[in-house]
Amino acid sequence: MLVSLKDVITMAEEGGYCIPAFNVYNIETCMGAVKAAEELKAPCILQVYPRLMKEEIGYYLAPVVVAAARKASVPVCFHLDHGPSELEVARSLRWGATGIMMDGSALNFEDNIAITKRVVDLCSYTDVQVEGELGHIGAVSDDSMDEFTTPSDAKIFVERTGVQALAVLVGNAHGRYKKPPKIDIQRIADIRQATNGTALVLHGGSGIPDEAIKEAVKAGIRKLNVATDICYSFLDCVAEEIAKPDRVIAVDNFMKKPIEAVKEFCMTKVLLCGAEGKAR
Ligand code: 13P
Repeated sequence: MLVSLKDVITMAEEGGYCIPAFNVYNIETCMGAVKAAEELKAPCILQVYPRLMKEEIGYYLAPVVVAAARKASVPVCFHLDHGPSELEVARSLRWGATGIMMDGSALNFEDNIAITKRVVDLCSYTDVQVEGELGHIGAVSDDSMDEFTTPSDAKIFVERTGVQALAVLVGNAHGRYKKPPKIDIQRIADIRQATNGTALVLHGGSGIPDEAIKEAVKAGIRKLNVATDICYSFLDCVAEEIAKPDRVIAVDNFMKKPIEAVKEFCMTKVLLCGAEGKAR
């Protein structure tokens, strides 16, 4: 069933676990992620990068995500990931998103608050909640990291914007880490306390060691984002299958294995989040 960001976050808060948020790119990754959640009876988030919402592909992909969520036997939120401006936000709402991320983290503190608050107000008209970002979470290829999110800034940010969830910079980055990242667990706990128990979001989930994720969830992470490793699970399987001399040619049949590979991968993250059996 299609549910809101607030619905899944509330479930995670009540159960003391974390919602796996899977980035999807096409029908197959979408099906693999939903199958994983259904098999383990877990609520989940399907999220889409803003470039997909800006381009023609969003016109096709958004209805697929909505259909997958509506058909699912478990609660599924359709979320815009890293929305950079009101354009992508408006388009995502128009296309049925039930959660929005407004990422103003590259702006200065006041401008980030201003645009995030505007988006929170806009989304409130459609009962959609917003994830903000404070402390710019970059890519593993960046030369340096931004300054980590501070509890005092996070408190002000949450109070002034009214976000439902907050993405924090605590040693994480997007992409495949060259060496395992060191996640500042104490900082997560401190931000959680300073923000009165706001649901915190850990981006850059691909390659964060399992133990660190478990500790992060204990400290207050309620949404775990995974994208890069979903791409690898899909593409590695495609590469393996295509190299076989007797490979299947019909695309729909060919895709059965890559869908299964995405499902198997996503299941490991559902378990890590402690979300299995929590659908209701
Ligand atoms: P990874 O690509 O590192 O898994 O990060 C995903 C993410 O945070 C999406 O917003």
